[in-house]
Amino acid sequence: SGKSEQELQDLAAYFDNQEMPLSQANPDLIEQGAALYRGGNMASGVPACAGCHSPQGKGNEPGGYPRLSGQNAEYISKQLNAYRGGERATGSNAAIMMDVAAKLTDAEIEAVANYVSGLH
Ligand code: HEC
Repeated sequence: SGKSEQELQDLAAYFDNQEMPLSQANPDLIEQGAALYRGGNMASGVPACAGCHSPQGKGNEPGGYPRLSGQNAEYISKQLNAYRGGERATGSNAAIMMDVAAKLTDAEIEAVANYVSGLH
C-alpha cells in the first residue's frame, strides 16, 4: 500500500528544506505583479506598493521607504515572507510592511517579487 507515516514526514521535511526556485520571467506573473505593485488589491485591502516605494521602485530613503529596484526576486520574496511571518518585526517602519504583507497571498508575493526585480 502507500507510504509509512515516517516516510511521509521525511518527505515533508525534505520539501520544507528546499529553496523553491522562483519562476524565471514568466510574462503572466510579471503582469500580475505589475498590477499589484501599481494598484494594490482592493478586494483584500493591499495598498499599492508604488504609493510608498515610488512607481520605479526608487523608494524614498530619507522617509524610510527603501529602494526596491535592483533587488533580486528571491530577496524580495524572502523579505515579504519575513514580514508576513513576523520574523522581520524591527520597529514601526517594519510594522507598516507587516500590515501590508499580512494581506498578500503566496502567489502575490511571487508575482510582485518578480515584477520588482525587473524595475529600473
Ligand atoms: C504605506 C507605505 C508602504 C506600502 C504601501 C508598501 N511598503 Fe514596502 N516598505 C515600507 C517601509 C516603511 C519599509 C521599511 C520597513 C523596515 O524598516 O523594515 C518597506 C520595506 C519593504 C521591503 C524590504 C526592502 C529591503 O530593502 O529589505 C520590501 C521588499 C517591500 N517593502 C515591498 C513592498 C511591496 C511588494 C509592497 C506592495 C505589496 C509594499 N512594499 C508596500 C512602506 C510601504
